[in-house]
Amino acid sequence: MNILIVGAGGFIGSHLSEEILRNRRDWHVTAVDISSAKIEHLLSEKKIDFKKIDILKDFDRLEELIKQCDVIFPLAAIASPLVYVQDPLKVFELDFEANLRIIRSAVRHDKRVVFPSTSEVYGMCEDGEFKEDDSNCVTGPICKQRWIYSCSKQMLDRVIYAHGVRDGLRYTLFRPFNWIGPRLDDIYNQNSGSSRVVSQFLSNILHGKNINLVNGGSQIRCFTYISDGIDALVKIIESERANRQIFNIGNPHNECSIGDLARKIVSLAKKYDWLKNLVEKIEIVNVNSDDYYGKSYQDVSRRVPSIKKAKDLLDWESKVGMDESLTKTMDFYFADPITTG
Ligand code: NAD
Ligand code: UGA
Repeated sequence: MNILIVGAGGFIGSHLSEEILRNRRDWHVTAVDISSAKIEHLLSEKKIDFKKIDILKDFDRLEELIKQCDVIFPLAAIASPLVYVQDPLKVFELDFEANLRIIRSAVRHDKRVVFPSTSEVYGMCEDGEFKEDDSNCVTGPICKQRWIYSCSKQMLDRVIYAHGVRDGLRYTLFRPFNWIGPRLDDIYNQNSGSSRVVSQFLSNILHGKNINLVNGGSQIRCFTYISDGIDALVKIIESERANRQIFNIGNPHNECSIGDLARKIVSLAKKYDWLKNLVEKIEIVNVNSDDYYGKSYQDVSRRVPSIKKAKDLLDWESKVGMDESLTKTMDFYFADPITTG
């Protein structure tokens, strides 16, 4: 099987490529990205071909690869909330327009698609746990530009679904709930707010900066360790029952407020001797979202997945607990001393 991963150089793409090369020797990966930094360690293997393609500029080259593959993972997107509010059109152009071209090409060439939707499509839904086929998708007013990511993904979910009904497109939509792990984001050059929360907090510690809790930090996320996510993706590839389904892929047992997350990370960071002096100087402070992200930000106060459907149809469950997920992530970044210069 030839698996085309667009955005293979990113967090999820690099782990998916690694898993396939390590454990699925009869599968081949065609890896597309503008950067190969996170997959350099894989590129000497025979079962992977890396193609440096900017999908915004060179769709024709991508289309040739789509024709040759069996399954496409269109993973290239902007997934950082600061960009949603500072450059929403850039999010729309990549996350929606470029990915729409990939979906249309998959329809033309009758290819299977495994598309990354997101927990963000549920937006400010107030259900206790979000269900793929029942929960409402609730976003805010247009002036709250944060929702451009959620709406772009939701619209693609709807387009893909409709192609399934009309054209028989074979697809699976998966919705990651705050996946974390090694290679999540670059923690060495992060400005405040430019990274997803776990890597942002690690970056702050590394640079001796205070940790910011947006609007007090009572908002809740369910953090999911990357190996659990990749396990689900492999089951999706292998399962007939995944066809034309949507799956939440998250860990409902790892429900954690952002304030508690900050306190856990600070406490765990003290275990790395070389970081001790930096950690002791750091304070956890409250910031207003208008000051931190800008006025067009709006938050999700609690987000918990139902994973019943993934359990029933894929025989998948998340396994890695909160502390273990954080420890494994922090060991990747902090096990060896880092000089920030
Ligand atoms: P990531 O930012 O780590 O990876 C995205 C990759 O896309 C990067 O390697 C980047 O270089 C590449 N890319 C960007 N622009 C490109 C272009 N013009 N041409 C070619 N490649 C380009 O993101 P991720 O965390 O791996 O997420 C992958 C997908 O999953 C995204 O669609 C994201 O929205 C979705 N998702 C992720 C999470 C999560 O928890 N990580 C949650 C929900 C949804
Ligand atoms: C994320 C992003 O939209 C996507 O990466 C992804 O699709 C999706 O959710 C997901 O992973 O499921 P969000 O969880 O809001 O959205 O993004 P983070 O940047 O990780 O922030 C989590 C929470 O921490 C937010 O409430 C944010 O305000 C808060 N935060 C973030 C802080 O309190 N301090 C910071 O320095 C950074």
